[in-house]
Amino acid sequence: MMPELSMFPEQASNFASKVDALYGFALAISAFFSLLIALIIFVFFIKYRRREAGEVGVQSHGSTLLEVAWSIIPLVITMVLFVWGAVIFIEMKTVPEDATEYYATAKQWMWKFQHPEGQREINHLHIPVGETIKLTMTSEDVIHSFFVPAFRVKQDVLPGRYTTVWFEANKAGTYHLFCTEYCGSHHAQMIGSVTVMEPDDYQAWLSGGGPVAAPQDLGAQLFEQYICNTCHYEDDSGRGPSLIGIYGEEVKFADGTTRIRDDDYLRESIMHPAATVVEGYLQIMPTYQGQLSEVSLLQLLSYIKSLSGVDESAGESAEAVDTADTSASGDDAAGG
Ligand code: CUA
Repeated sequence: MMPELSMFPEQASNFASKVDALYGFALAISAFFSLLIALIIFVFFIKYRRREAGEVGVQSHGSTLLEVAWSIIPLVITMVLFVWGAVIFIEMKTVPEDATEYYATAKQWMWKFQHPEGQREINHLHIPVGETIKLTMTSEDVIHSFFVPAFRVKQDVLPGRYTTVWFEANKAGTYHLFCTEYCGSHHAQMIGSVTVMEPDDYQAWLSGGGPVAAPQDLGAQLFEQYICNTCHYEDDSGRGPSLIGIYGEEVKFADGTTRIRDDDYLRESIMHPAATVVEGYLQIMPTYQGQLSEVSLLQLLSYIKSLSGVDESAGESAEAVDTADTSASGDDAAGG
């Protein structure tokens, strides 16, 4: 990839032209007023120059018209910038319902990705063109930031919680991926690429690496490995609440407060169970802090979400739920 000398990076996502239009507008406004002010200074130099020695300037006592003009015009311009920017910002922050979820885990100093179909990559992400992609991201250590200039998306990646970014790549090609938060001595080398492929090429690429397990299937294995299934039964008869159909629903705590069970909630429940004791249950769950990597945690979340019908890999989750149900009921019988 030869660096091209151009004002802007390539436009390769649904956001690119919108962000560039706003940026172009702000740039044009700035250029216009910079030139206007420079021109006015120049004209006034000449118009109001001292023509003879001892000449004294005439004091101006203001002009209502001028004052109104220089208040209203900037107000209108900044409001246009604000509303225009807010519209784009809100669109960027509103992940479409039908987005396909990919996972990203950042650590010093690399990016780990996992596809909904299970493929894992380091520092490179392959995605199909024209698909709405949601990236759920977290960090194993410090704050990083995910930035793909060609997509005009940038989002901080934080330890201990999830952040998301979404986009739809609309042009095949390979684009730079940067970490844009100083994260230690090798921050500058925390770079990678995103390859946008035609759907057929993407399918070929996916099947090229041999069979892999989907994140929720791996999560189902972890669910057994960490014996979560000895407390979380399908019905609410276990020592912990049932995890069937809970994702996205409201939960009530012992102290009467409520919260929506989203990704961050599930994460906190596993890492800091004492902070999220559901009403009617005892705080007996051990913490899994330090036992589960962020990658494993995302797989576990993927499995728990699949129990609520959140289908990330289209087609395979039903099978995953079946397997898990069988094993869970088997353990139920043993435990009860
Ligand atoms: Cu990671 Cu900078």
